[in-house]
Amino acid sequence: MDIKLDGRVAVVTGGSKGLGLAIATRMAASGADVALLARRTEVLQEAWEAVSTTARGRVLAVSCDVSNAQDVARAYGEVMAGLGRVDILVNNAGTSQTGAFTTITDEVWQADLDLKLFAAIRLTRLVWPQMVERRWGRVINVLNTGAKAPKAGSAPTAVSRAAGMALTKVLAGEGAAHNILVNSLHVGLIESDQWARRHAQAQTSQSYAGFLADMGKGIPMGRVGTAEEFANVACFLASDAASYVTGTAINVDGNLSPVM
Ligand SMILES: NC(=O)c1ccc[n+]([C@@H]2O[C@H](COP(=O)([O-])OP(=O)(O)OC[C@H]3O[C@@H](n4cnc5c(N)ncnc54)[C@H](OP(=O)(O)O)[C@@H]3O)[C@@H](O)[C@H]2O)c1
Repeated sequence: MDIKLDGRVAVVTGGSKGLGLAIATRMAASGADVALLARRTEVLQEAWEAVSTTARGRVLAVSCDVSNAQDVARAYGEVMAGLGRVDILVNNAGTSQTGAFTTITDEVWQADLDLKLFAAIRLTRLVWPQMVERRWGRVINVLNTGAKAPKAGSAPTAVSRAAGMALTKVLAGEGAAHNILVNSLHVGLIESDQWARRHAQAQTSQSYAGFLADMGKGIPMGRVGTAEEFANVACFLASDAASYVTGTAINVDGNLSPVM
């Protein structure tokens, strides 16, 4: 499907690496102006250059820690100053944070909720009024399959993600009358910078390709997904082609999750 996003402005959090970078690249190549939000400025600069290579619109890189309320407000101001509006918000920034329940301190719980839940709440609250005014908006929350099928040892992430799924449904209900469509995408195992980092940290003699192949063995489709495959679904949801899709929680996991 040829996705067209001409005339739209998208904000992608965690847009400098992995799934966020793939989404930003695909949206920019589809004609949207795109703002990339992430913390590390040198990595953002590299991402800006990469996205600009195939972009058909403007690309803006804004350094921001989305888990910090003041930083989110400042970054939103920079996006508005640079691109003038926001039509599409992709709440994607995140990390994997898990442990045995009794080892998770209040500080770890709070940091996880700030990054994965409050970042989405705060950014959505900022962009919502202009989407209502223009009667057009898309909010895409990137979550994980653990939101639907939490396992032992998967806190705090699974709990933050389940809250993100509830937030998605609440917002879809409130946005429907205003043509603001809100959906969540649930990641299983998708190749990204985080897996490259984990492979490097493991200091194994196994190649990265072998590491990914082993990860894929437990997935019914027999392989991990690619960031581009994930970005395709996000771009569809952001487009006019998805004009009757809202309040859904879509797995992008090669059927890894036991729950639909
Ligand atoms: N890939 C998977 O298999 C998988 C599985 C389950 C869930 N997910 C979820 O999917 C999303 C994308 O994951 P990924 O694999 O693409 O991760 P990644 O390769 O590690 O990229 C993470 C991106 O988020 C940014 N980021 C992290 N913390 C941030 C913060 N506090 N403020 C702003 N930006 C921040 C990073 O840049 P800076 O570090 O410079 O800020 C980077 O751009 C995450 O929410 C992740 O939890 C992924």
